[in-house]
Formats: sequence, structure tokens, C-alpha cells
Amino acid sequence: MLHLQTVADLRAACDRARAGGHSVGLVPTMGFLHAGHRSLMRAARAGCDFVVVTIFVNPLQFGPGEDLDRYPRDLAGDLAQCEEEQVDCVFAPAAREMYPSAPLTTVHVARLTEGMCGAARPTHFDGVTTVVAKLFAIVGPCTAYFGRKDAQQLAVVRRMAEDLNLPVTVVGCPLVREADGLALSSRNAYLDPEERAAAPVLFAALRAAGDAVVAGERDAQRLRAIVRETVAKEPSVALEYVDVRDAQGLEPVATIDGDGELLVALAARIGATRLIDNIGISIRGGDVALDLGRTV
Ligand code: PAF
Repeated sequence: MLHLQTVADLRAACDRARAGGHSVGLVPTMGFLHAGHRSLMRAARAGCDFVVVTIFVNPLQFGPGEDLDRYPRDLAGDLAQCEEEQVDCVFAPAAREMYPSAPLTTVHVARLTEGMCGAARPTHFDGVTTVVAKLFAIVGPCTAYFGRKDAQQLAVVRRMAEDLNLPVTVVGCPLVREADGLALSSRNAYLDPEERAAAPVLFAALRAAGDAVVAGERDAQRLRAIVRETVAKEPSVALEYVDVRDAQGLEPVATIDGDGELLVALAARIGATRLIDNIGISIRGGDVALDLGRTV
């Protein structure tokens, strides 16, 4: 496995792979890898010849007062996991390699970044799209794998690639949960035992909303109320938002009517930790299928 630190080396490795007739798969991460990341690596391994994992805690996507300084890091552990997943190349640059000076150029995706996580984190998605655009530019033509836990990020990155004709196919992969339903996240490491015990209420709330849709509920306000009422059973959990949105364009949905792919998405704070989660709802000819993710 190659372990690269410079933009020039990563670009050369990807160019070399393509010149040899190999397809390139990209898994962008901020490290502290878990089974969710590993499922992305497996999807890339299954679909591509040369698999690149990037590990970079991107300062640009953290707002003032957010957890940039305490974001969990474990490069040695991450490299070992990448080896186990038969990754070909890990790119783990220093911040000054990615940002030799503060960038004067950033990428902003309008509308899709408003609301949901964009409401509490107004600069976050510009940081994500800027670093992902840079990674796409460095890696070049590839298939890039993103988790559906970050559903808004996935929609935003997809739209960026489409709008800017970037030579990248963006693939969304299933959200991965612990056995008790908590969505895997590097930030789960912040939870103390009591907070960890309370955290599965987020999935319980989403599942209650999903079950209500299966039972015939079509009113988004009612679905949001179900989530709020369920989360309220854990006083240590503060719901930041719950929204029902179209999964692609992220338009808010008032009433579920006709066929489509929807998301019920939320963010919540448990102590100092901000977590997000969502479920997918697919409606075809009146049949409802829930995408609850999968369990480790
Ligand atoms: O999802 C993440 O870990 C990050 O937002 C990403 C896509 C690696 C960009 O820094």
C-alpha cells in the first residue's frame, strides 16, 4: 500500500493507474476510520482497480467554536485498517499541503446547502465542497464513494460534480449502524457512557416515523412530531432539526404524495456532541420501502 503525503505524488499515482488501464476508486475521509468507512472501501475495492483513501481533517469545513482541535485522530490505526481492506493508496496530507495559503477560491453549492445542517453550520458545506473539488481535481477521473449517513453532503457533492462537469461518478453507500441502531460516526467517540446509552433514541425516532409512513401517514408535519416526541423521551438529547426532504434535490416535503425517494433527516446534540442521522423512504406505486441502513 502506498502512503502518500503530497498532491504531486497522489496525482502521479492516479495518472499511472489510469495509464495502465486501471479504474480509480476514491474514498474521501477525515480518518478515525470505522466500519462505515470500511464499507465504502469495500465498495470501492469491488468496483475499481486502484483504490485511494484520503485522510484529511479539513479545517475549512469546521466553523468557529466547532471541534476541529479535538476531532479524533489515529493515523496508525487508520493505515492498518486500510491495509486490511486492501486499499492501494492512502493520501494523508498535512494541512499546509492542501492549503499552502488560505484559499481565495471556494466552491459554493446554492440552495441544497441551505437548511438542515446548513442552518447551524453556515460555512460547513463550502468547506466540504472546496476540499472535495480539490481531491477530485488531484485524483482525476474516478468513482468516488460517500456514505448516506451524510445525506445532505452526498446530495451537495453530487450536484457539484454534475454542475461543474467533474469527471467523477459519485456513488452513495448504505449508512452503517451499531446493533442498537446508533449510526456509526467518528464523533461517537466523544460520547460518555450515559450519552452513549441515550444516543439510540435518534434511530428509534426515525424508525417510528418510517413505521408511520408504512402504516399510511403522509403528513410531514406529523412525521416530524413523531420524531420530536420520541427524542423528547431522552432529556439529555436536544433535537436541532428534523426534516422531511426529497432525497435528490432536498426540497422540503409537506405531504408525501406519489412515487419518490425521501429522507427523514435529523441533527441532535447530546452533551457537547452533535450527531446526525437519517432514513430513506422509497415510494413506488403506493408501496413503501424503508432504507434504515445496515447493521455492522
Ligand atoms: O464526510 C467526511 O468525512 C468529510 O466531509 C469529507 C467528505 C471527507 C470531506 O472532508
